[in-house]
Amino acid sequence: MKFFIDTANIAEIREAASLGIIDGCTTNPTLLSREKGSYKDVLKEICAIIPGPVSAEVVSMDAEGMVREGKDLCKVADNIIIKVPCIREGVKALSMFKKEGIQTNATLCFSSMQGLLVAKAGATYVSPFVGRVDDVGNPGMDLIRELVQIYNNYSFGTQVIVASIRHPQHVYESALIGADVATIPFKVLEQLIKHPLTDSGVKSFLADWEKVTKK
Ligand code: G3P
Repeated sequence: MKFFIDTANIAEIREAASLGIIDGCTTNPTLLSREKGSYKDVLKEICAIIPGPVSAEVVSMDAEGMVREGKDLCKVADNIIIKVPCIREGVKALSMFKKEGIQTNATLCFSSMQGLLVAKAGATYVSPFVGRVDDVGNPGMDLIRELVQIYNNYSFGTQVIVASIRHPQHVYESALIGADVATIPFKVLEQLIKHPLTDSGVKSFLADWEKVTKK
């Protein structure tokens, strides 16, 4: 299972990368809007820290505009992946990117049928937003189960990135289902590492070791 970091914050990305377990990064317009400096400079810096795929989203609403924007974003670094929304023009753009050999991430996916269409269009990744599905009272993880099954049924190469992750349970279920990637906010990454029994165990071992060294 691959772990991506879901942030555009350089300090968080550096800290996450230092763990040695981060395979990529996902950004979106909201995440980039929170950072200082030009978005291209921020993306360039992220691409230098993270050796794997770094998603950057287009904001055009027509396929030609998306492709134009995507090609421009590709100039930032070799590891940029173009994020395209799961709308009709987005499906067209995904097909066009596929023909040009440009890697893509179909984002804002909320149904398995959107996922089927973008896989047929040749998306490299699909990003189902589990947290936002949960927010409207539906089980977000069901979408992951369906996508993984449909892609397996037809041997689609599109990789499922579980996105809009809000807590460790989302990552746990993603791993059990066999999703390809979880894109994890920094706070959730910290929650995944932390365990109160590990902390109290370390504390008592250190206290006992102090007794040993004082002997
Ligand atoms: O990866 C998508 C993510 O950034 C959206 O998360 O919490 O805004 O739904 P959220």
